[in-house]
Amino acid sequence: MMELNFSPFPELHTKRLLLREVSKLDAQALMQIRQSDAVMEFIDRPRMKNLEEAYAFIENIISSVEKNESIFWVIAEEENPDLMIGSIGFWRIEKQHYRAEIGYLLHHDHWQKGFMKEAAAAVITWLFDNTQAHSIEANLDAHNTGSVKLLESLGFEREGYFRENYFYKGQFTDSALYSLIRKGS
Ligand SMILES: CC(C)(COP(=O)(O)OP(=O)(O)OC[C@H]1O[C@@H](n2cnc3c(N)ncnc32)[C@H](O)[C@@H]1OP(=O)(O)O)[C@@H](O)C(=O)NCCC(=O)NCCS
Repeated sequence: MMELNFSPFPELHTKRLLLREVSKLDAQALMQIRQSDAVMEFIDRPRMKNLEEAYAFIENIISSVEKNESIFWVIAEEENPDLMIGSIGFWRIEKQHYRAEIGYLLHHDHWQKGFMKEAAAAVITWLFDNTQAHSIEANLDAHNTGSVKLLESLGFEREGYFRENYFYKGQFTDSALYSLIRKGS
């Protein structure tokens, strides 16, 4: 069984980014990201309606991280560390299978600058170096080109393609499963 301990919180630094713990001060930025039609196009979650929902979301995250059930990093630029521009984390962690699912979102003003690749590479390295995780999976709408390209550029391989298995926004859509296996084991 994989053992996890997210305390103290593993803050990470990349060339341009700070990956830090979430706080209530991130509520406004989080809400704006999760209200964006561009960001949420392929994500089957309701748009965040108000700050109360953002606070509740943050409380859930903090509690889940405290219980070592999932981990969630706020993405900020090093030069502007207080402003959340995205998030990345591992959730639906299957400790008995040493496997975690990755999830990520970035404010659309920052797309295609290599930010998520930089953030994802850092958290994947952290996970494999600091836990016994053996594999990481990603589930996505097969039409989510940005996410597909990101995963492929990180070395994930497509292991499943499910035709019209997901009913979303009134129509059946294809979904895909990608995974990355720890190297050298
Ligand atoms: C998916 C997402 C996180 C990508 O973030 P990003 O910072 O723009 O991605 P990057 O700039 O790091 O790009 C990584 C690679 O994917 C490619 N890429 C990213 N978005 C692309 C797009 N829309 N079309 C084609 N290629 C794309 C980049 O060219 C780059 O390729 P390279 O490594 O060969 O140069 C971002 O589009 C997003 O937040 N989307 C909405 C939320 C979402 O769908 N999350 C995933 C749910 S499964």
